[in-house]
This record gives sequence, structure tokens and C-alpha cells, in this order.
Amino acid sequence: TVRADWPATVVAWQRRHGRHALPWQATRDPYRVWLSEVMLQQTQVKTVLAYYGRFLQRFPDVQALAAAPLDEVLAAWAGLGYYRRARLLHAGAQAVVAEHGGCFPATAAGLQALPGIGRSTAAAIAAFCFGERAAILDGNVKRVLARAFGLGEPLQGAAAERRLWARAEALLPDAAEDMPAYTQGLMDLGATVCTPRSPACVLCPLADRCVARAEGRPEAYPLRGPR
Ligand code: ADE
Repeated sequence: TVRADWPATVVAWQRRHGRHALPWQATRDPYRVWLSEVMLQQTQVKTVLAYYGRFLQRFPDVQALAAAPLDEVLAAWAGLGYYRRARLLHAGAQAVVAEHGGCFPATAAGLQALPGIGRSTAAAIAAFCFGERAAILDGNVKRVLARAFGLGEPLQGAAAERRLWARAEALLPDAAEDMPAYTQGLMDLGATVCTPRSPACVLCPLADRCVARAEGRPEAYPLRGPR
């Protein structure tokens, strides 16, 4: 089946072949992980690397960010684009300070209640920092699932979205200690192997059970629907 040892396969692959040198992987500080996830929402890793350290030097913790004038935050964000993210980041920091005494909520549900943190971002932070068994589901992960399972429906729409979340949750590892590697592994597979065009199936640890691969047309998934 597609499910067979999926989590163990992703975890083992990530530990051996995934990315390990990204600066936000060297910490379990939710502030630093949150910042990386917000920057990475619409910006490539390569670009984020040029801004991440500098932003943290300027705003080393959530208190510093919350206390800063918005225009200074926007200035530090300059070049990353999608400035709405910087405004929400600032609002999020102020919420953490005002409503949580400067300490980030330690659950995905609590994180998701902050400004600018959606379900997948909340899950990523909770998995990386606290080992919570929470599923991520971004565009890359949707593509991996659509191909592995050969999902024969477009992914747009509330019903398809609900089914994708249920699938993502059913695939989680049992052990909290595996959650960081599993979550990073899905991200790394989607970004470096199971790419939109010309996926590197020969490098994929899930190729042996991938429906799209078996059909010989991995690029046909996810199916394109009416927009
Ligand atoms: N994209 C979103 N989150 C990421 C992460 N933690 N590492 C690499 N790329 C990402």
C-alpha cells in the first residue's frame, strides 16, 4: 500500500539525504522557527538565507520585534516582498507579548490563533519546536500526496482540501521525536525531488509505492482543475 512505512521512510530519507544546514534547523526557539516559516511562505530558501540572520540581529527576540516601530520592521523586510507578512509578523509578536507574556503558545492550535499563522505554518512550528503530531500541508506537500496516491481529482475546493488534510494526518509518525525530521523531510522531498516539472523519481524514497510513478506520468499530478 501507499501507506506502508511512509513515515519511517520519509524520516530515514530526511536524516540521510535531507537538508540539515539551514540556520532555522539549528534551533527549537519558536520565535526563530516562526520567523523562518513566515519568510519561507512566499520566498525561496536561497533568498531567505540572505535576510534571516540580519533580521534576527536587528530583532533578536519576540520582545524586540514587538517593541519596534512598524516602519523599522518593514525596512528590515525590504527586498523580501509581500509586506503583508511583515505587518502580520509585527502584529503576531505584539500578540505573543500582550496575550502570552512573551512566551509562544506550545501547541499548533494555540499558534494558529496568532495573526498571520495558518494551519500549516502552525503545524510546522509545533512539529519542529515541540514534536507535536501536527500535519503540514503546503503546495509542495499537496503535490507529493497527489502523486504518491494518484489522486484523481483536482486539489481545489473545500472537500478536496479536507480530504488532503485527513490524508496528511493519517501519514504522521507515531513518535514525537520523529516529527521534526518527518516534517522537514516532506518539505525537502517537495522542494528538491518531487518537483513540479521533471521530478527526480530515481532519488525518491517513496518511488516504490508512488501511483503516479507507476503510471509513468508523475508530472500529470496534481490534476489541473477549473480555477
Ligand atoms: N519551506 C517552508 N519551510 C521550510 C523549512 N523549514 N525548510 C526549508 N524550506 C521550507
